[in-house]
Amino acid sequence: MAKTIYRGDYRAPTHLIDSIRLEFDLNAEETLVKSTLEVRPNPECTEKDPPLFLNGEDITLRSVSIDGRELKDGEYKVDSNGLTIPGITSAQKLEIVNTFSPKANTALSGIYASGVNLMSQCEAQGFRRITFFEDRPDVLARYTTVIRGATEDFPVMLSNGNLTEEKSLEDGRREVTYVDPFPKPCYLFALVAGKLVSRASKFDLKDGRTVDLSVWVDPQDLDKTEHTLESLKRAIRWDEERWGLELDLKDFKIVATNDFNFGAMENKGLNIFNSRCALANPKVATDSDYLRIEGVVGHEYFHNWTGDRVTLRDWFQLTLKEGLTVFRDQEFSADMLGEPSARAVQRIRDVSVLRAAQFMEDAGPMAHPIRPESYQNINNFYTSTVYEKGAEVIRMLQTLLGRETFRKGFDLYIARNDGHAVTCEAFINAMAEASGRDLSEFTNWYSQAGTPRVTVRRHWDEVNHRLTLNVRQSTPPTPGQSVKKPFLIPFPVAFLNSRGEEMPVQLAEEDEAPAPGTRMFELTDETAEFVFGGLEEEPVVSLNRGFAAPIILDAGLSQEELAFLAANDPDPFNRWDAMNRLLIDAVHAQTRARLLKTPEDVSPLVISAASKILRDENLSPAFKAVALTMPGEKLVAEEDPLIDPHAVHAGWIAVRQAIGEKNISAFLETAQANIVEGPYEPTPEKAGKRALRNLALGYAHAAGSPRAAIMIKDQFMTANNLTDKLAALHMMANSQTPAKQDMEVDALKAWYHEPLLINKWLTIQATAPSFPGEARVLERVRELTRCPFFSLKNPNNVYALLLGYFQQNPSEFHLADGSGYAFWAEMVLELNRINPQVAARVARSLDNWRRYTPALAEKMHAALESVEAKRSELSPNVAEIIEKALG
Ligand code: PHE
Ligand code: ZN
Repeated sequence: MAKTIYRGDYRAPTHLIDSIRLEFDLNAEETLVKSTLEVRPNPECTEKDPPLFLNGEDITLRSVSIDGRELKDGEYKVDSNGLTIPGITSAQKLEIVNTFSPKANTALSGIYASGVNLMSQCEAQGFRRITFFEDRPDVLARYTTVIRGATEDFPVMLSNGNLTEEKSLEDGRREVTYVDPFPKPCYLFALVAGKLVSRASKFDLKDGRTVDLSVWVDPQDLDKTEHTLESLKRAIRWDEERWGLELDLKDFKIVATNDFNFGAMENKGLNIFNSRCALANPKVATDSDYLRIEGVVGHEYFHNWTGDRVTLRDWFQLTLKEGLTVFRDQEFSADMLGEPSARAVQRIRDVSVLRAAQFMEDAGPMAHPIRPESYQNINNFYTSTVYEKGAEVIRMLQTLLGRETFRKGFDLYIARNDGHAVTCEAFINAMAEASGRDLSEFTNWYSQAGTPRVTVRRHWDEVNHRLTLNVRQSTPPTPGQSVKKPFLIPFPVAFLNSRGEEMPVQLAEEDEAPAPGTRMFELTDETAEFVFGGLEEEPVVSLNRGFAAPIILDAGLSQEELAFLAANDPDPFNRWDAMNRLLIDAVHAQTRARLLKTPEDVSPLVISAASKILRDENLSPAFKAVALTMPGEKLVAEEDPLIDPHAVHAGWIAVRQAIGEKNISAFLETAQANIVEGPYEPTPEKAGKRALRNLALGYAHAAGSPRAAIMIKDQFMTANNLTDKLAALHMMANSQTPAKQDMEVDALKAWYHEPLLINKWLTIQATAPSFPGEARVLERVRELTRCPFFSLKNPNNVYALLLGYFQQNPSEFHLADGSGYAFWAEMVLELNRINPQVAARVARSLDNWRRYTPALAEKMHAALESVEAKRSELSPNVAEIIEKALG
């Protein structure tokens, strides 16, 4: 039976472990661990003489001794969850010997084999798959790690901290010892061993120390590490300059592996990365890969202070480190882009991700507050809510308090909690103290799920030239939370006159007008009324600029007003947002027209708005590219009362085609004007030009331009970088062009030996449409699961092909006969046996089944039931997802 864990049930650990010495005898088949623990009862524990419980999972106990005396059967108890030892009522030295098999570890949690290497992953609860330990983040210990292994198999052996000893043993083996000076929770432990090579560099810190940086990879990947190392240097410098935080180690290492469940992991001084977030060169990485790598390298590095030095009391507090660290990496990425309009592009991307993934999660059966109240399996709560919405909550604090005060609060948070395992209150309290502000109302953001709807209705009083805004906020019920209290919401307001210039935002009761520009207000209650005066004409309102709060805003703007903002808003984020809204509305209109069988033309307003942006000489290519990017079908569908993925797909195609057709020569000119010459460089300017050129080619191609088709094919053959090559392949694969088959085969032949490229190729296959006369995508995907370059054991393969198909190709996945769903069920059950975390992620593809038309919903429900029927075989991870989806 699934066990639910509640936040309120937290109890301090019964015992503390001050130090741990780990000795590994490495072997891929069977590794032996001897663990020596200095254990003592926790003075803060209220229970009297509780037994010591050490978690242990999928590992084999060989012996336990206390202060040198081996315990006999009956003096301890061991079961599938761990080891219980009664009678530890004073400080003791505990010695445990156990074994496990890295090779057999397909869950990729604990220590596992990745090719010829061994890798570890301990967050959240992987350490218990290495040795018996109190596997919880509030037990902080000092680690000494001794690793022994055959020199031939493991020429490189790494762990956290400093290398203090290195010696050859007689039998062709080597022994290394690492000491990590900082106490840490076990989820930050790491071990890496194998045939790795490194790119290394010295780096001078601001405080005068010089540190060693290195990036460790398989030998064939050494030419993909420069960007990683350079990103790390930029991250270190930025953390010094923006937050005054220094690297606290002499040595900082990054390792890349092809076998990894998530993106990357912040193990102390030894970050481990999924290779897709760490490896780049112009042949294997696109412009967005370069950006992502910089962001993730930053993210993991920034955890060193927000996560490692200040850590979590329990897993409910996950957003304390993740929300804050995502906020930090977003700011880092934005700062690396430099000037304000480039920063805005970064913000637009971040918000698009939030809206596409997190809003959907917040509206479905897995909705949870950024700090959940309960969970069955913590691995299921590494969500976009905890991460991305968590980052928005931190950002709102900065907006409400101002950058300077926020920085004071941040400094206080670090100073006060360094070396401790704390809760989200530690952060809020530091902010409250630094600002002198009572932030208790703000904490609703931590305890309530769901995306608030903010509705604004305007009344213009022509006689007195007053504008009244009536604002109402409400948050729909979410599982377990039917009634919501109002949120404290930052509410920026700006007014534009008919020439598109900013006007002063002056309250009617005020005597003096402030300078024109954005003015910040706060919403605290369910309703609010603002009356503005001093207005020479009725303004167009520009609200929630920069996406100050993670809300769904209904500003009541007409299509004409949106078009005005799309053409004129001096705030680049809102200008983008207005254009995006026009595009979404246009797809809605076309979808509706299809469902009602009342054909109508795509609104001329959206077409002319798009064409104005395309031709505006003051806008950067990067901005134009994001502004004219079609909103995803899923994002649009999310707003429909009942989702018909096929109607949405048809509506989406119609809008894209109409915009393309009406602007065909402008798109072709734009494509021509944005050719990037010279060797590849992933700079924001060049990346922006590539993005705009490819967007323009895409529209022209969608409109049936033969010239575009030739340009695309030519680009595929001659591109000196993956961005352009992949964009060309993608456009071809999404069209009915006969030439596409050859291109796909060519790409496969050229990319076969590079996992990063194979994954991109798989995603193109999974997300393409199928045209009459072609095999259905379902059949293609099914066949690809059996090909030699795909393995269900490799998470990146699974994400590229299966998540691509289940989550990014709605019109091909939602087949009327339910065969797409049956395939989903089959894959979830197979993955469940291999890797529960990956299986659970794939399982979430049917979360929102209730939102679909009854015919589809019924078939999705049946597929969920078919997985549920195998309940006894399901991992707790998958069981929780299915149970909640069926809810
Ligand atoms: N803590 C990691 C990060 O956010 C994510 C992660 C979680 C990685 C669990 C692996 C396992 O950077
Ligand atoms: Zn993180």
